[in-house]
Amino acid sequence: MTMFRSFYFMLLVNATLPLATIHAQDDQSGFISIDCGIAQGTNYTDNKTGLNYVSDAGFLESGVSQKILPTYNFPNLDIVYTTLTSFPQGTRNCYTLRPKQGKGNRYLIRARFHYGNYDSKGQPPQFDLYLGSDLWSTIRFNAMLPVNYEIIHLTSSDYIYVCLVNIGLGTPFISALELRLLDSSMYANQLQSLITFNRVNYGTSERVRYGDDKYDRIWQTTTSNTLIAVHTSGTVSNLGSSTANEVPSKVMSTALTSPNLTSNILIPWTATNAADEFFIYLYIAEIETLKRNQKREFNIYLNGKYWDGPISPLNHTTTTYFIRSSNSLNINISLRQTKNSTLPPIFNAIELYNPKQLLRQQTEDLDAEAIWRTRSMYGLKRNWQGDPCVPQSSAWVGINCSYNDLENPRITSLNLSFSGLSGELADALANLTMIQSLDLSFNNLTGNVPKFLASFSFLEMLNLTGNNFARPLPSELVEKSKDRSLLLIIEGINNQDKGSCTKDSCRKNKNNKVVILVTATIAATFVLLTTLAILLIIKRRRAQDVPDDIIGSRDQRFTFGEIQSITGSFKTIIGKGGFGTVFHGSIGDNQVAVKLLSESSAQGYREFQAEVRLLMSVHHKNITSLVGYCDEGSRKGIIYEYMANGNLGMHLFGGSPNVMSWKQRVQIGYDAAQGLEYMHHGCKPAIVHRDVKCSNILLNEKFQAKLADFGLSRAFNTEGDTHVSTVIAGTPGYLDPEYYTTTRLTEKSDVYSFGVVLLELITGRPALSGDIYIVTWVKSAVAEGNVEKIIDPRLQGDFDINTAWKVVELAITCVDSISSKRPTMNDVVTDLKSCLKEDEGFHGAKPNKLDRHTDLSLESMQGPNLR
Ligand SMILES: *[C@@H]1O[C@H](CO)[C@@H](O)[C@H](O)[C@H]1NC(C)=O
Ligand SMILES: *[C@@H]1O[C@H](CO)[C@@H](O)[C@H](O)[C@H]1NC(C)=O
Ligand SMILES: *[C@@H]1O[C@H](CO)[C@@H](O)[C@H](O)[C@H]1NC(C)=O
Ligand SMILES: *[C@@H]1O[C@H](CO)[C@@H](O)[C@H](O)[C@H]1NC(C)=O
Ligand SMILES: *[C@@H]1O[C@H](CO)[C@@H](O)[C@H](O)[C@H]1NC(C)=O
Ligand SMILES: *[C@@H]1O[C@H](CO)[C@@H](O)[C@H](O)[C@H]1NC(C)=O
Ligand SMILES: *[C@@H]1O[C@H](CO)[C@@H](O)[C@H](O)[C@H]1NC(C)=O
Ligand SMILES: *[C@@H]1O[C@H](CO)[C@@H](O)[C@H](O)[C@H]1NC(C)=O
Ligand SMILES: *[C@@H]1O[C@H](CO)[C@@H](O)[C@H](O)[C@H]1NC(C)=O
Ligand SMILES: *[C@@H]1O[C@H](CO)[C@@H](O)[C@H](O)[C@H]1NC(C)=O
Ligand SMILES: *[C@@H]1O[C@H](CO)[C@@H](O)[C@H](O)[C@H]1NC(C)=O
Repeated sequence: MTMFRSFYFMLLVNATLPLATIHAQDDQSGFISIDCGIAQGTNYTDNKTGLNYVSDAGFLESGVSQKILPTYNFPNLDIVYTTLTSFPQGTRNCYTLRPKQGKGNRYLIRARFHYGNYDSKGQPPQFDLYLGSDLWSTIRFNAMLPVNYEIIHLTSSDYIYVCLVNIGLGTPFISALELRLLDSSMYANQLQSLITFNRVNYGTSERVRYGDDKYDRIWQTTTSNTLIAVHTSGTVSNLGSSTANEVPSKVMSTALTSPNLTSNILIPWTATNAADEFFIYLYIAEIETLKRNQKREFNIYLNGKYWDGPISPLNHTTTTYFIRSSNSLNINISLRQTKNSTLPPIFNAIELYNPKQLLRQQTEDLDAEAIWRTRSMYGLKRNWQGDPCVPQSSAWVGINCSYNDLENPRITSLNLSFSGLSGELADALANLTMIQSLDLSFNNLTGNVPKFLASFSFLEMLNLTGNNFARPLPSELVEKSKDRSLLLIIEGINNQDKGSCTKDSCRKNKNNKVVILVTATIAATFVLLTTLAILLIIKRRRAQDVPDDIIGSRDQRFTFGEIQSITGSFKTIIGKGGFGTVFHGSIGDNQVAVKLLSESSAQGYREFQAEVRLLMSVHHKNITSLVGYCDEGSRKGIIYEYMANGNLGMHLFGGSPNVMSWKQRVQIGYDAAQGLEYMHHGCKPAIVHRDVKCSNILLNEKFQAKLADFGLSRAFNTEGDTHVSTVIAGTPGYLDPEYYTTTRLTEKSDVYSFGVVLLELITGRPALSGDIYIVTWVKSAVAEGNVEKIIDPRLQGDFDINTAWKVVELAITCVDSISSKRPTMNDVVTDLKSCLKEDEGFHGAKPNKLDRHTDLSLESMQGPNLR
């Protein structure tokens, strides 16, 4: 059962038990301790634990305070259990916690429940407990006893929502909610969340908690008829690898052992579900004084199978054994002494957790913060519960969000009409950068209409009517409404009534925005290709009206006849694509590659022009150079320098028998990065490649990498305009998800694609294979802690682990779903350069095990190196 039997052991506790001594240590700065149901705004210090509890008033807006009946106020009951908050209204009620240490930290969150027949119905309810949009547990009661539910969770957002959901089996309630910041090294070998199954301190009947455990883990007790308790008055320290979980000395100073020599010790339990996996932390230390001729040695078995040993516990020093159980309903750990041992096994404490992969989907923090601040500024009393956007079915009323699998939901519309808002417009709204529709009509808003409203790139509708805003309106806003990119509704400006700008004609001005949902399915690809094709047809038509202005120097222009002789009448094909065919050729002693556009090519004239023009103006050692071009009516070709080793994809996934070395891969990454850096930062205006992928990275005879295929590239001015809205183009698997949803093209889209290329170099796997998308695959492998499988197995461990991890980390930041969090190509080049340097000092040692973990949010984690 996923609950503590708090009350059971309470009954076992001697009534005259001294209160836990409260140590001088009193740092509760990482704690949030809420006693639900006490008077609003009050707080107190629990004199049993020294913990400071506050009322729940500041953490939610609903609920009714209640008290348990005196009969259920058992002796020694924790004081937090005497009151509770119940939720007769609404199916979903949420607490919002905002620990000041913020996201990227690991917290222990504990929800505590004692029914105590507060409603005199004599029947405890059953309900669901959620962490954000993820089901944490279903709360069930064991008769009328209090229960605790705990989860250890690495947060990816500054906001933590704990929600109680009515499932039709009685009114949900909660007695206390406790959050404790853990040290980043604790329970850190996994990125899954851990649901506490049990945590037991053996050999004592005294519960250990805050004061002795600075993280306020509650250590339960248990008794045994067959085993005997031992204890030491000395201090048991954590040493080396066992420091990670910081088990308190108080816990380790008691233990159980066997009274006679031959018995083996068995620790059995039953899982809630047979499918549950267990993470088991077994803590062992020698706390008896061994005589010179005595020896304690034993092996550890899991379900009868040897797990570890022989072990001889260290004197007054904790060793942690981490055991992952296979899934089965009945699980046991046994400790069996070896033949040479003169003493039976000993064990001090155990923790059992069920790992759970949470989706952790939450509204993007920027938006969440903006809306929470707006809400509190106006004192909005709406039934807004939990996360603004998720779960989608319970998104806040008046808010619409964008949803896709790759990034956090963003708020796209907000309707606060008739909400009794007064005073100035909240500045906080300025951070709702993805907003498309904002309805603030019919409030009592005053003051100036802020300028930031004109800065929203996607705002299509702004309704400010029915307020008392000062005039004049900001000119930027008026401009936008005049050029019809914004439908502005306010007294005096009436662009909707002009009749000249219907909704449809407004749309047409909006850069043909195409939003494609992020699914790498055939359907999506089909849509993409169709869209592309249609747009290309349109463009092609248009392009033909444009005078041909690519004619550069005469000597780069070739006739079709010349092309024919260069290629030996198109003898050797070296590549094929939707655009046409690439032939081998030679001009004098120099080998060249000739791309001949097929007439039915999806690569239109515009793309041909773009590529030729671009290559004529760009010269860099990591960009394929243009030898010439041919433009004779429908016969169009481009002549490039010859790249003897083809494209990168052929070497990585082409089944090539020669495995590229780690160093080669980093060098290729570095080369390609320099080419991109030049395009982004060395060219004015900057150029976005838009189609960075393995098959567009070519290798010459020295395996030097150069970027190729600039048909989709776009140049744009960096001054003033930092993005261009454009039609989606690129290759599925490499496409920046932000670009998908916004169609805003920036250099950062190339950074994303480049990150995918880096991942391919690291893993030796293609961006998309079957249903598997490399970005999610790597992230989930990292999340599972299964990092070994990330690096290309064909390297057989022949790489420097430190640089390997640097490259993995770099790649993961490049594919951050939020473009602003990605590095620039300048940063990428610098990082890869330092990796190459470090690699110089590495001479092929083969580390047999990865011992460093990385995280999606790249918080640093030291593996606890258990065992
Ligand atoms: C507790 O209440 C006192 C007054 O009753 C107040 O001064 C103090 O700030 C409160 N502490 C917390 C943590 O809320
Ligand atoms: C603290 O302890 C005193 C007696 O030692 C007791 O009278 C009081 O009620 C306790 N207060 C709380 C909040 O438990
Ligand atoms: C060891 O002790 C247990 C419990 O006291 C007892 O059941 C068992 O028979 C003993 N074994 C031997 C060999 O004495
Ligand atoms: C321990 O688990 C194994 C495997 O499930 C089982 O065969 C064995 O009987 C169990 N031992 C005891 C003493 O329950
Ligand atoms: C074990 O450690 C304790 C406490 O540190 C110490 O007093 C004792 O002498 C040690 N025993 C042995 C056998 O080293
Ligand atoms: C037991 O001790 C003997 C002598 O020290 C040693 O040779 C033998 O390998 C040990 N057996 C085990 C199972 O550890
Ligand atoms: C906002 O909500 C009001 C009702 O409260 C509705 O009349 C209005 O149409 C909504 N605005 C938008 C933009 O949907
Ligand atoms: C939100 O979406 C719903 C359903 O698509 C739509 O009816 C509503 O008008 C939208 N609200 C706003 C404020 O855009
Ligand atoms: C706006 O203010 C006026 C008086 O200042 C008041 O009568 C009216 O009810 C207010 N409207 C809203 C929606 O709060
Ligand atoms: C917007 O968000 C940033 C980052 O969280 C914050 O520093 C800033 O104060 C916010 N701006 C406003 C106007 O709230
Ligand atoms: C504000 O204007 C928009 C656009 O005309 C309209 O859809 C919405 O209903 C208006 N809001 C209210 C409360 O009338």
